[in-house]
Amino acid sequence: MNDVLIVYESGYGSTETYAKHIGKALSARTLPASKLKAADLNGIRTVVIGSNVRISKLPVLKRIKRHKALLRNKRVLFFAVGLTDPSDGIFDKLSSDNPDLESLNAEALYYYPGAFDVSTFKWRHRMLMKFLKFALSKNQNRSAEEDGLLNAIENPVDERDMTLTTSLVEKVKEG
Ligand SMILES: Cc1cc2nc3c(=O)[nH]c(=O)nc-3n(C[C@H](O)[C@H](O)[C@H](O)COP(=O)(O)O)c2cc1C
Repeated sequence: MNDVLIVYESGYGSTETYAKHIGKALSARTLPASKLKAADLNGIRTVVIGSNVRISKLPVLKRIKRHKALLRNKRVLFFAVGLTDPSDGIFDKLSSDNPDLESLNAEALYYYPGAFDVSTFKWRHRMLMKFLKFALSKNQNRSAEEDGLLNAIENPVDERDMTLTTSLVEKVKEG
């Protein structure tokens, strides 16, 4: 589909894997948000925007902010990739932590599980996880989310599941 563009921000590859899978399923161009130029949006009707989750932030939003006016005229579908269990209300939290998400006016929001392997992280993220591990292990009243994070810091996880993208792909095709 020549009028569909997939734009994504990925730190360690999970969001990129989903974005490329969606791009392939839709025969659409896939582009890292850091490379997005205004000209890439020419002739595009639908933009699928994907972001990794970083300390509850959606880094793609900052990247695409400069194209806000152009995106306003497009159909937008959004997906986030994170570690948190995709429970109901995940986008209530993400929206309150990322006010720019609402202004995208996305037709649909999707959440996909990612991967987490501290040994592959950059130094500053490894240090952050070391600190978090220390703080979380001292906390006797951890939430399920904090328990999940502590577990993932100690044991690498990879929950990526490309079959979850089917409903997004179908929605784009519906037009
Ligand atoms: C520094 C850092 C902070 C993170 N913070 C969160 C978070 O707040 N919530 C969450 O669900 N996942 C969080 N994650 C997990 C990532 O979202 C997950 O690993 C995802 O697969 C990352 O996608 P990427 O490989 O495209 O960067 C964090 C990961 C890192 C490295």
